[in-house]
Amino acid sequence: MIQLVGLHKTFRSGRGFVNALKDVSFVMEKGSTTTVVGKSGSGKSTLLNCIGGLERPDKGSITCFGRNILALSTKALSEFQRQCVGFIFQHGNLLSYLSVFENIAFPLTLNGIAANQRTERVKVLLEKIGLSGAEKAMPHELSGGEIQRVSAARALAHSPRMLLADEPTASLDSETGKNLVDLMFGIVKEQGCTMIISTHDPEICDLADMTFYLKDGEGIAEV
Ligand SMILES: Nc1ncnc2c1ncn2[C@@H]1O[C@H](COP(=O)(O)OP(=O)(O)O)[C@@H](O)[C@H]1O
Ligand SMILES: [Mg+2]
Repeated sequence: MIQLVGLHKTFRSGRGFVNALKDVSFVMEKGSTTTVVGKSGSGKSTLLNCIGGLERPDKGSITCFGRNILALSTKALSEFQRQCVGFIFQHGNLLSYLSVFENIAFPLTLNGIAANQRTERVKVLLEKIGLSGAEKAMPHELSGGEIQRVSAARALAHSPRMLLADEPTASLDSETGKNLVDLMFGIVKEQGCTMIISTHDPEICDLADMTFYLKDGEGIAEV
C-alpha cells in the first residue's frame, strides 16, 4: 500500500512562492494503478517526484509498503529508490552514451545483479517491448516510441514495487502512446507492481483503478 497524508510542497522561485501541493492525501492498494490528471502546473510532477523520493515535501507523510520514506536516511532512501522505484519520464531520459542493452541493464547493475542474469533479463524485456536484436542500438538511433519502450523496460528491469510514469505518452502520437501504455499495464500486472501515471489522456484513465485529479496543488480521488 502507498499512503500519502497531508502533503504540502512550496517552491520559492523568481515569481515568489508557489504552492505546488496543498494538503494532498490518498491511498493506493498494492498492485493497483492510479492516473494523476490536471492542467500543466497543477502539481503532477511534484507529486510523482515526492512519492519517488526525488523531491521532499515540506509537510505530510508518505508511506510506501510499510516504510515512512520521509524518515529514511539518505543512504536508506537511495537503497529504497534503487530497489523499489522505477521512473519513466516524459522524454525518456535514456543515457545517451549507453546502448539499449546498457540502459536497460543499468538498474540491474546498480542492484548488483550478475552479468549473465542481466543479459538474460534484458533479453526477456527486449522481447516484451518488441525490440529483440536492438541491444547494440544507441538512443539517438531510436524513434520516440522506441525510446519510451526502452525507458519502460529500464524502469521495470529490476522488478520495482512501484512504477512512476510522468506523462510517458505526452510526446508520442496516439497509436504509439497506446502501444506503450498497453505494454506498461501488461508488465506491471505480471510483476504485481503498483503504478502511478500522470497523463492528459482520458483513455489511460479508463484503464486505471483510480484517477486522482489535481487542481492548483489540491486533489480529489475518484475510483
Ligand atoms: N523546482 C521548482 N522551482 C520553482 N517552482 C517549481 C519547481 N518545480 C515546480 N514548480 C512549480 O510548481 C507548480 C507545479 O509544477 P509541476 O509539479 O511541474 O506541475 P505539472 O507537472 O502538473 O505541470 C508549477 O507552478 C511550477 O511552476
Ligand atoms: Mg509535469
